[in-house]
Amino acid sequence: MRTEGDERERLGVLASGTGSILQAILESGLPVVVVLVDRPCRAEEVAAAAGVPLEAVLRSSFGGDFDRDAYTDEVVAALRRHRVGLVAMAGFGTVLGRSIHEAFPGKVVNTHPALLPAFKGWHAVEAALGAGVAETGCTVHLATLEVDEGPLLAQEAVPVLEGDTVDTLHERIKEVERRLYPATLWRLVRGGHEEGAGPAPTGARGNE
Ligand code: GRF
Repeated sequence: MRTEGDERERLGVLASGTGSILQAILESGLPVVVVLVDRPCRAEEVAAAAGVPLEAVLRSSFGGDFDRDAYTDEVVAALRRHRVGLVAMAGFGTVLGRSIHEAFPGKVVNTHPALLPAFKGWHAVEAALGAGVAETGCTVHLATLEVDEGPLLAQEAVPVLEGDTVDTLHERIKEVERRLYPATLWRLVRGGHEEGAGPAPTGARGNE
């Protein structure tokens, strides 16, 4: 049976950008208990509109003096304040240190706009376009200390069309991410206690 306080179901979403994937997660009805941002961004407005608590753990630096481990500890403390059990990165622009994986072992999930292991890194869409591949896509995977590594949970291909720019291709990939990511997160939330599981993620298509 699901209970209100079951931490396995308490989802924290980490975002840095427009928050369109966050929005799809919220519209799918997933039990998001906190949204955490690392910089001022539109995702804050998305959280506010949905009435979800916000933790702004703002980076003091984007330069060489950034203390990644200390920052990660702050993120972990913020997630713990909300008794989070599952962490979903949704366009989060900071690579986190070891303590997030120690605090939430096997419970940090990411979505990446390419078919991993191809095109790792922050410029995955640009790299795929530059490489001239016929198709790219998106990958939902468990996050590990090594960026864009970790066991794959779901993948879907997206064709590269003639005349595509980074923006048009990324937007088509994100359309898929807005469906695939919530569906995969629902699978994880339901895992281990299928009985009385939550609603089907019908709302996940709201952004398409
Ligand atoms: C997604 O493509 C995600 O895979 C990448 O950043 C994008 C986030 O999009 N890491 P948005 O800010 O949710 O619109």
